[in-house]
Amino acid sequence: MKIALGCDHGGLNLKNAIKKHLEEQNYEVEDFGTYSTESVDYPDYAKKAAMAVSSGDADCGILVCGTGIGIGISANKVKGIRCATVGDTFSARMTKAHNNANMIALGERVTGIGLGLDIVDAYLNSEFEGGRHQKRIDKMMEIESENL
Ligand code: RB5
Repeated sequence: MKIALGCDHGGLNLKNAIKKHLEEQNYEVEDFGTYSTESVDYPDYAKKAAMAVSSGDADCGILVCGTGIGIGISANKVKGIRCATVGDTFSARMTKAHNNANMIALGERVTGIGLGLDIVDAYLNSEFEGGRHQKRIDKMMEIESENL
């Protein structure tokens, strides 16, 4: 499984910790930056990682900014992306199980490294349940095709 990563300066430390954590578990990781603490604009990095997911080059993506909000909203502007900003493991599991989220976003200034890594594991180790949830996702994506 290939995972696209992206962050801004506010999410650098957690993104680097997630990258190490995923590589230790033998996931294939593509890191779209940023790579330093220099101030940058989160939409630029959300776009790069989300395009990799949207094109099928990556199977899913994980984004980090200060709150997880700006970078998550930005990712959701890319066609085909369902990115959930999550700060707890229950939401991380449920957004895969019910929303089939293909990206999650975390906030380094909100969530510590330990919980952040647990959230990533909870998301990656969950399965989409399909069934009644697929119909709702179809409706969600219909909104996208009608408006974008
Ligand atoms: C950057 O200072 C900060 O605004 C950004 O990381 C994020 O929290 C935005 O949603």
